[in-house]
Amino acid sequence: MVSSFSARSRAIEPFHVMALLARANELQAAGHDVIHLEIGEPDFSTAAPIVAAGQAALAAGHTRYTAARGLPQLREAIAGFYASRYRLAIDPERILVTPGGSGALLLASSLLVDPGRHWLLADPGYPCNRHFLRLVEGAAQLVPVGPQSRYQLTPELVNAHWNQDSVGALLASPANPTGTLLHKDELAALSQALKARGGHLVVDEIYHGLTYGVDASSVLEVDDEAFVLNSFSKYFGMTGWRLGWLVAPPEAVGELEKLAQNLYISAPSMAQYAALACFEEGTLAILEQRRAEFARRRDYLLPALRDLGFGIAVEPEGAFYLYADISAFGGDAYRFCQHFIETEHVAFTPGVDFGRYQADHHVRFAYTQSLERLEQAVERIARGLKSWRP
Ligand SMILES: Cc1ncc(COP(=O)(O)O)c(C=O)c1O
Repeated sequence: MVSSFSARSRAIEPFHVMALLARANELQAAGHDVIHLEIGEPDFSTAAPIVAAGQAALAAGHTRYTAARGLPQLREAIAGFYASRYRLAIDPERILVTPGGSGALLLASSLLVDPGRHWLLADPGYPCNRHFLRLVEGAAQLVPVGPQSRYQLTPELVNAHWNQDSVGALLASPANPTGTLLHKDELAALSQALKARGGHLVVDEIYHGLTYGVDASSVLEVDDEAFVLNSFSKYFGMTGWRLGWLVAPPEAVGELEKLAQNLYISAPSMAQYAALACFEEGTLAILEQRRAEFARRRDYLLPALRDLGFGIAVEPEGAFYLYADISAFGGDAYRFCQHFIETEHVAFTPGVDFGRYQADHHVRFAYTQSLERLEQAVERIARGLKSWRP
């Protein structure tokens, strides 16, 4: 039976952490107090003004499809955000509102990747990227990256890995799982390297807003032709509303609109109306408080894990993840994660979920829990290390 399912579907791996999560949930159901550091979404629920706007939209009957590109007023509000945050004039006509950043990725990969063609992707990286490429019959060309390049692609790496099948690169800043940024000069250099090769540049900026001590530059500050994926999920705290956006060069918009009409018709209308409240001053004040809270958590967890012997060579400047080398403790990362779930009821994600390069001795911690819970987690991890047998 299974062999009758498509090769494309069979090639897509599940999130390995799901098996660990199932076990964590079993333990929780049996009455154990599990600390979840594996979850890649903010622990805060959606800010009250956004929820109120969503409720008002429902009450007003905004329950139908919208235009495939999204509500014009939301696209204008997003353009306004680029003006105020980045001092960038982006024509709202270049913005497509999508079902999550995932929808933006679906559009971009459908538009830009022919069968057999590749995008260069950093390994470790967000796992769904390579799966989206597989879905459109293209492929990911995984480029091993480490602390030397702060886990990011560089022009040298692009040049070294480019081959006749490569058509572009997908970067992420801040990146998942490492939380590292690409700064403006680095984005400019990468843009030049790709232009020199005739390749296109796609940048995932969905963790923008969640940076600590530094503001992230958008690739659009240095390359007006780049494609940008963004989302209301992370900084705006709307994971379950399924809303994101894509900024594309003007000549691509008609084609993308056609794809959007066919792939999903429109992003959820209720969510789009709710998102209009994201850019109000009062909402942004709440989001900035949350950002400050994430910064406090990072500032606590990073040194605490380093003190325990985890290798975190590069200080992450954004997102809410710490990607840690466990070589000092020996053994395989997946078993290491299992050990901490079973013995200390702390869940985090094995490196295998983010690629292949050195995945067996890396894990990702998400600081999507309160400071108090993180302190408890660190105590438990310290204890669990004593009983760990590689
Ligand atoms: C790097 C990255 N890109 C894209 C996504 C997709 O998020 P969403 O579809 O909720 O916007 C995620 C989610 O975790 C992510 O980490």
